[in-house]
Amino acid sequence: MRVILLGFGVVGRSFAEVVMSEGTKLAKAHGLKPKIVGIVDSSGAVFDKNGLDLAKALKSKKDNGTLAGFGDSYHDGMSGVQAVREIDCEVVVETTPTELKKGEPGLSHVKAAMIKGRHVVCTNKGPLALAMPALMELAHHNGVLFKFSGTVGGGTPVLDFAKKCLEGSEIRSIRGILNGTSNYILTRMAAEGASMKDALADAQRLGYAEADPTYDIEGFDTACKLVITSNYVLGTSLSIKDLDIRGITKVSDKDIAEAAARGEAVKLIGSVGSKAKVSPESIKLTHPLNVSGTFNAICFDTHPSGEVTLVGKGAGGPETATSVIRDLIEIRRSFAR
Ligand SMILES: NC(=O)c1ccc[n+]([C@@H]2O[C@H](COP(=O)([O-])OP(=O)(O)OC[C@H]3O[C@@H](n4cnc5c(N)ncnc54)[C@H](OP(=O)(O)O)[C@@H]3O)[C@@H](O)[C@H]2O)c1
Repeated sequence: MRVILLGFGVVGRSFAEVVMSEGTKLAKAHGLKPKIVGIVDSSGAVFDKNGLDLAKALKSKKDNGTLAGFGDSYHDGMSGVQAVREIDCEVVVETTPTELKKGEPGLSHVKAAMIKGRHVVCTNKGPLALAMPALMELAHHNGVLFKFSGTVGGGTPVLDFAKKCLEGSEIRSIRGILNGTSNYILTRMAAEGASMKDALADAQRLGYAEADPTYDIEGFDTACKLVITSNYVLGTSLSIKDLDIRGITKVSDKDIAEAAARGEAVKLIGSVGSKAKVSPESIKLTHPLNVSGTFNAICFDTHPSGEVTLVGKGAGGPETATSVIRDLIEIRRSFAR
């Protein structure tokens, strides 16, 4: 299976590392032999139809911050769209940054890949949060598979758990803690009386939060994941623009203390039932959604079985790379049918 990798950051590099370290096992257990024939970052691209030397790519990125270490085979300034059009492959793996105004560059990458007849694995939430129904349609129209299990839950298989394992149950509503940074901050505030400012500074120091944490603490990351989950699991046609979104920035020490006195905790919850929204809510300390630190949890209210909750790490390079592998295995299975 020839793969073009768009984005060579935390997730892209972890994916390359997993392909190198787990290749033999994946081939034996699943018949999966991903051959990365192209890698593109923000400055250029490298490609080799026989499969790139991944150790060299990782070293070049580490040493220079670019793929220029490939010398003559480095194409300075080559874009992801150009690479997708010019390099033959079966699958495009899209791992560029999530952007929520226009969904770029991911949206153009995904569209170009589908139009060219490539299957797509996407960890980037932007294209899905803004245009998921249209992209599903485009994939169908071009006869390609569109997989995105890493967009929700990182390595925790939230989407396929709901779609496959809850098959036969009616899912009436979904509620989830879907952003590790916000949950870490709220946990520290409740457990230690830390201020939001100090907890956020610690989250940044520990690498959980970005230098610009708006996307996490204003609720946009949770909203993206809720849109993707709702559309995939409940068959809605939401875009992030349809949601009421309120993050944690206005949660006060007093809110946290009052919730604790009631035996509750304030959490940033994304929910979809009669309407879709993201807002801080108080939940019982004994509720399975009450996870601490950077953990994510998602609760499906099903009929007739009642609530089913899935808990796991919601992000991380190796975890998200595992989700890419999971998606590739499924694409490989479809080839084999
Ligand atoms: N990290 C996680 O735990 C996690 C979990 C789930 C989902 N995700 C999602 O997965 C995606 C990747 O995350 P990440 O943590 O790997 O991000 P990252 O470390 O910031 O890496 C992004 C990569 O995309 C490249 N890039 C930026 N603009 C580009 C362009 N126009 N064309 C081609 N490449 C471009 C960057 O190039 P340079 O290297 O040249 O800057 C970088 O290699 C994001 O959308 C994120 O929301 C991440």
